[in-house]
Amino acid sequence: MSSDKKAVLHWGDGKSTEFPVLTGTIGPEVVDIRSLYGKTGMFTYDPGFMSTACATSRITYIDGDEGVLLYRGYSIEQLAQSCDFLEVCYLLLNGELPNAKQRGEFVNTVTRHTMVHDQLNRFFTGFRRDAHPMAVMVGVVGALSAFYHDSLDINNPEHRKISAFRLIAKIPTIVAMTYKYSMGQPFVYPRNDLSYSENFMRMMFAVPAEEYKMNPVLVRALDRILILHADHEQNASTSTVRQAGSSGANPFACMAAGIACLWGPAHGGANEACLNMLEEIGDASKIPEFIKQVKDKNSNVKLMGFGHRVYKNYDPRAKLMRETCHEVLNELGLHDDRLFKLAIALEKVALEDEYFVSRKLYPNVDFYSGIVQRALGIPVAMFTCIFALARTVGWIAQWAEMVGDPENKIARPRQLYAGAPRRDVVPLEKR
Ligand code: CMC
Repeated sequence: MSSDKKAVLHWGDGKSTEFPVLTGTIGPEVVDIRSLYGKTGMFTYDPGFMSTACATSRITYIDGDEGVLLYRGYSIEQLAQSCDFLEVCYLLLNGELPNAKQRGEFVNTVTRHTMVHDQLNRFFTGFRRDAHPMAVMVGVVGALSAFYHDSLDINNPEHRKISAFRLIAKIPTIVAMTYKYSMGQPFVYPRNDLSYSENFMRMMFAVPAEEYKMNPVLVRALDRILILHADHEQNASTSTVRQAGSSGANPFACMAAGIACLWGPAHGGANEACLNMLEEIGDASKIPEFIKQVKDKNSNVKLMGFGHRVYKNYDPRAKLMRETCHEVLNELGLHDDRLFKLAIALEKVALEDEYFVSRKLYPNVDFYSGIVQRALGIPVAMFTCIFALARTVGWIAQWAEMVGDPENKIARPRQLYAGAPRRDVVPLEKR
């Protein structure tokens, strides 16, 4: 939204140029520099988008200083208390929470798209059993575009909607198949009488030899993990999805790009890295030595699950995840869990240490999510796949918003060139 304010850039020999200042509903104002190059012949330089808004979005809002996260205006705390994951999916996709009828129809449609094409099974057998599950996910989700030629017209809103349903419905099936394949167990097909999270738990952990018993506390914990990871505005993987989609690529290919980006340890791979870190520390007596390494700039060791580009306060998702961690461990009689105790001790030391205090480094969602997932029986290598499962709705909502935005343009950043200036090729015998 434009305002009467202008930002003035003074440059060159006494020249000045005005730029419009845009205001959102909440959050910092934004200087609209789209005309900068045309007016001044200069680009801006902002590696990692430290100060650059790349889109107008109505989906998610974060106030990093206050530790606030809103989906479509609703706080993550209220959504985690009052809604289930599919209601949150409806909200992210449609902008409003569903009424009972809308909820019923939405759940019904998602539930009836959960099976994957039988040919897709063959993709799994092409992978080594010990392949990293995220490698399998990148391949299999990307392959989905080969199955739905009938509905890949991204300019058709109905096609976009069908793709959203297919992705949200099939991703749990694919994640569970990835796990089953790695274990050498038969795939478990989805069942339409179960909720989204129940279905996923069953597809992950049931075996044909016996009946699978559902534990409602664990199902609720999984549902909460999904809610907390569902969207997070313009993070690295979401920007990747938007960037891939800006060329008109189909949504399945864009999701594969998002999954690839999520895999990195600075992003979705952090919960896996965090649990491995806790295992390596092993014992509370080793915490001071570990913190010393983290503070040593030459060591390259980071406190995984701490710090965030946007949150300069306690990540609100980390608080909820810590609560869920208590519930799950109590339910399973694991309140003395070694790694949970270690994590709490490590958090306390870090929050009192000048290094972390002065840099405003607080626990992020991944600090506790690994412990919860491990307690649910999810192996460490699968953690990032669970993140991808949850984030699929955010990616598809952001992708659809971008495709429907009349201001959308192919993402084409510029650069500060620091390579060789123009020069002539010297013939081979003279080089
Ligand atoms: N451990 C030790 N030092 C840290 C950490 C950490 N986890 N995070 C940041 N710092 C230091 C960093 O070295 C720098 O110090 P200095 O000013 O002396 O050079 C300062 O804090 C600022 O950090 P930055 O690297 O400039 O911050 P960033 O915004 O570029 O990076 C981050 C954010 C999340 C990549 C980083 O904090 C990090 O690597 N954290 C650990 C990985 C992690 O937990 N990632 C999950 C993020 S939440 C889930 C998600 O949304 O994907």
